[in-house]
Amino acid sequence: MGVRLIWLTFQARVSKKLDTRLGMHMAAYEDNLLIEELDIIARVLEIWNTTWVGKYPKALRRDEVLLRFEGNKLPIPGSDILLLADFYRLHTTGANKEIYVPKTRKVPGGSKNSHTLTLELLIELDAYTDRIEDTDTTTSLRKSTKRKADTDAMSAPVGKQPRNTSNPFPKSSFVRAPSSASANVNTTETISLVLADVHTDAATGSVEITWPAVKKTVVAKLEVDKMMSGQTKHVYRLFMDGTTYVAKRFFNIGGDGAPGRRVSPSQNYQNLYQEVCRAIQGQWFLDEFYKLVRQRDIEVDMSFRFVRPLLAKEVIDDLGSFSLASGVSQADIDSDSEPDKAGAYWLIEPRRAASVRRWSGTMSHPVVAGQKGATMSVLAHFIYGYSNSELVAADLQSTIAGTDTGTVADVIFDIMTHTPDGCVLIYHNFLTMLHDTDVNATRRNSGVGDHGQEGIDAFIEQHECNYLCKEMGLVTEGGGSDGD
Ligand SMILES: Nc1ncnc2c1ncn2[C@@H]1O[C@H](COP(=O)(O)OP(=O)(O)O)[C@@H](O)[C@H]1O
Ligand SMILES: [Mg+2]
Ligand SMILES: [Zn+2]
Repeated sequence: MGVRLIWLTFQARVSKKLDTRLGMHMAAYEDNLLIEELDIIARVLEIWNTTWVGKYPKALRRDEVLLRFEGNKLPIPGSDILLLADFYRLHTTGANKEIYVPKTRKVPGGSKNSHTLTLELLIELDAYTDRIEDTDTTTSLRKSTKRKADTDAMSAPVGKQPRNTSNPFPKSSFVRAPSSASANVNTTETISLVLADVHTDAATGSVEITWPAVKKTVVAKLEVDKMMSGQTKHVYRLFMDGTTYVAKRFFNIGGDGAPGRRVSPSQNYQNLYQEVCRAIQGQWFLDEFYKLVRQRDIEVDMSFRFVRPLLAKEVIDDLGSFSLASGVSQADIDSDSEPDKAGAYWLIEPRRAASVRRWSGTMSHPVVAGQKGATMSVLAHFIYGYSNSELVAADLQSTIAGTDTGTVADVIFDIMTHTPDGCVLIYHNFLTMLHDTDVNATRRNSGVGDHGQEGIDAFIEQHECNYLCKEMGLVTEGGGSDGD
């Protein structure tokens, strides 16, 4: 797959000065991996430490260096956990390019068209010397004397090195990174997909999903082995148009289906469908929320958005079978109680950073510190109010991702909702489409994880109004949102 290589150059900075003795480290990395996964900094340190310990007693540790761009510039906050491709794009497009890309610098070994970032690792000498001293004086209590002076003492020999401004790269250890992509050598299978069209009604927030009459297919590569699993879904890597995505399918829908019971192809489809609805609906509520926030000039975290998943259906291949990853066989299709909805369906989203920040659980709505936490909490209250108490947003979680506009967004995904009995207002189109075949005819709900009134009550009981709820006017007379 057209994976790009990105060249990274590193120099060491100690306090205000570049430490040229450690040399310049340069290596190429495949851009479809996460920075965390690549462990770039640890690798650079490994090489530099051979020089470092020639002068100092102990090797530098990962937590004693900070990632910077040339000139000690801070990377865009939050961006250091992105995919390398996103990290690169974020810092080299639009106005950011002016800041992060040196204008005239020729990188040794880099060809004209190569993608390069000029980075630095800032060595936190205070932290390092603290650690060294602590281990030297293990029996005595930590000294309370200031250690600031150590910085100069330690860096003095470094500083004496004349800084050669015309050629700041005296040494270059030019290394092609060893195959970093162990995660990338997994077997893939080629599949053809049809993508659903998703429409949202701007006025009501209702969602309509239709399948194109003329079947346009896209070809993708899907990994045979799953990348990971959550509580309800298996997650696979999928490569399409040179971009890495994840493809998800349900393996556990709980409820009346006992855990471990197989999820039929049509159940998978219905649950994916509902998840897409929840995400689109979530974005609609978020838009309304942000609109109000702007009108009233209230300061909240503006970086949230909902994932916009694609819903895809595999086209059966020449041999008449679906992908191995889908787990769907012809026998499954034949025995499905709803043959017209049986097939190999996937929910597809761009691959994002691995670290997930949780703001609420299925049945828990805690107070989370900070502006982001407060924003998620008031959003949940807003959704409850704005939906006329028909909808509680649960399981709010987000991961960081770069956007096309060169900013970092907090992408909310895998949202769950609690609805009194099917949330007709919200899922109008969905229910119209499914009403004759709904598997949960007795308690139509918004999908897996919907605990109905119980779930709504949990929110009412646990939600604590914060300053933003007050500013938004969501708090009623008694002070509490729900007259407790
Ligand atoms: N777009 C993505 N990119 C990278 N990892 C993801 C992505 N979506 C989900 N994951 C990972 O897979 C896990 C399971 O996915 P999720 O949608 O939360 O399924 P579940 O319904 O099983 O909780 C997530 O907790 C997250 O760690
Ligand atoms: Mg999840
Ligand atoms: Zn509130």
